[in-house]
Amino acid sequence: MYRVLYRKYRPRVFADVIGQPQVTDTLRSEIRSGRLAHAYLFTGSRGTGKTTCSKILSKAVNCLSPRDGDPCGECEICRGIDDGSIMDVVEIDAASNNGVDDIRMLREEADFTPANAKYRVYIIDEVHMLSIGAFNALLKTLEEPPAHVIFILATTEVHKLPATIMSRCQRFDFHRISPQDIAARLEYVCEQENCTIDHEAALLIAGIADGAMRDSLSLLDQAMGQDQHITDELVRRTAGLADKSSIISICECILDKDPAGAIDLIDELHRSSKDMARLCEELVEHLRAMMLIKTMKQPDGVLVMSEDELRRTSGQASRMELSFIISSIDKLQGAYDRMLHGVNRRIEMEMTVVHLCSEGKSSDIQALTQKVEMLEGVLSRLVSDPSSLTAASSMKPASNPTLPKQKKPSTEEMDKLRENAVPMEQWPEIIEEIAKSSKALYTGFEGSRAYISGKFVLVDSDKDICFELLRKQQNREKMKAAIMKVTGRSYSLGRYSYPDEKKTDDALSQLANDLKAAGIPVSGQ
Ligand SMILES: Nc1ncnc2c1ncn2[C@@H]1O[C@H](COP(=O)(O)OP(=O)(O)O)[C@@H](O)[C@H]1O
Ligand SMILES: [Mg+2]
Ligand SMILES: [Zn+2]
Repeated sequence: MYRVLYRKYRPRVFADVIGQPQVTDTLRSEIRSGRLAHAYLFTGSRGTGKTTCSKILSKAVNCLSPRDGDPCGECEICRGIDDGSIMDVVEIDAASNNGVDDIRMLREEADFTPANAKYRVYIIDEVHMLSIGAFNALLKTLEEPPAHVIFILATTEVHKLPATIMSRCQRFDFHRISPQDIAARLEYVCEQENCTIDHEAALLIAGIADGAMRDSLSLLDQAMGQDQHITDELVRRTAGLADKSSIISICECILDKDPAGAIDLIDELHRSSKDMARLCEELVEHLRAMMLIKTMKQPDGVLVMSEDELRRTSGQASRMELSFIISSIDKLQGAYDRMLHGVNRRIEMEMTVVHLCSEGKSSDIQALTQKVEMLEGVLSRLVSDPSSLTAASSMKPASNPTLPKQKKPSTEEMDKLRENAVPMEQWPEIIEEIAKSSKALYTGFEGSRAYISGKFVLVDSDKDICFELLRKQQNREKMKAAIMKVTGRSYSLGRYSYPDEKKTDDALSQLANDLKAAGIPVSGQ
């Protein structure tokens, strides 16, 4: 039967636990000297060795011939604990046994002396999940612990523990394991399994797992399932990462201020089922690397990347201003948050990258030319069809396929919609909701009103900005998502009233005149 790697390679002695000397050295010396605590608290992020060390400790305190603070692993007690035949070591998962009764039962049982071993050891995993009642019951036992009982409490979320419990435990903090340590362990495991792994690939796994040994071994397991020789490329494929060169290419587009190129790349990744939120994270990672390269003397200590990657990343970093890198990270992180809040991930990704491509562009001539071309296009459309000013987007090129062609409804249609309209009571709540994903939208819609009519939500506001905002596809998406969230229904968006045609015409000719005055030729006139 196949045993997953992280189980197969669970350390059996403290000496094999990697990267936690502050825990393992102290525990071994306590065991050697026999100065044991009655309660231990193991905290730290997942997959760093808490459960592993609990098991080793439970054996070490009971082992018949301990070796330098480690369990021998061979005596009947060690073997009995390993195979579960000795009942004096009890593992409790607090996530599923979190009630008062569970802990009461444990207390009654704890009063009896152990059957085979010296100590009865209770390992309570995910201890932060206990109910208040259960914590109180546990506290009673911790206050007067029977001499033959040792508690080991383990948790990833120590801040959720009552202070009264914490103060009665000896606390050990498990750290994230360094990429170098993880990589070395992975290389060792591969050797044992008759596989080969490139050092770069091992480092990449360590980076993805963010200091967790369990996740590293799981990823290695998956990669091994595909090939006996593990490369950087295989790891990327297995983890669903974009090819590093795609990330570098997107950044190249940002540097070249080439939004079209960036959108093409995103489209390609999207078609190969790449998750856009993940892509966003990877871009942030890459920009962070550049930030470190620009600010640190020796970034290679912190950065987990191959020499070649470091060279390419440094090359890009040298062409980017630090302030731009920082603001880009900020924007991408904002986009990432919004992605998790349910906006269309692809649109969000495109929007952000286009935004980054146009950053700081205003001074360069090519950008200006592009802007003028865009304005020309918009204007010629407006002149031939004035009603499009109030309906479809006015700032996007005509060829953009993602924009809905929206016509202003006829007066009769409008009258009919208004006739059936009822004020939307949840509107203020929807505006609060929108505040979570966009400050700009929130400001724009503050003080507006809305009506429901059939499948329409009709917005009314004294502020024009509100309708300006609604012309943008991504804003409509956000608004619709907020409406959906609050009402549980999907609505189309519309205006409650339209400014009269005359005014629109005036505004239009004014705009045309302004542009002409600025020397921009207006086609269609
Ligand atoms: N410090 C470590 N040294 C070596 N292997 C480790 C370490 N931490 C975790 N592992 C590996 O990850 C697996 C899960 O670790 P575990 O101790 O259950 O983590 P947790 O901290 O989440 O309780 C172990 O079986 C082992 O293979
Ligand atoms: Mg655990
Ligand atoms: Zn033993």
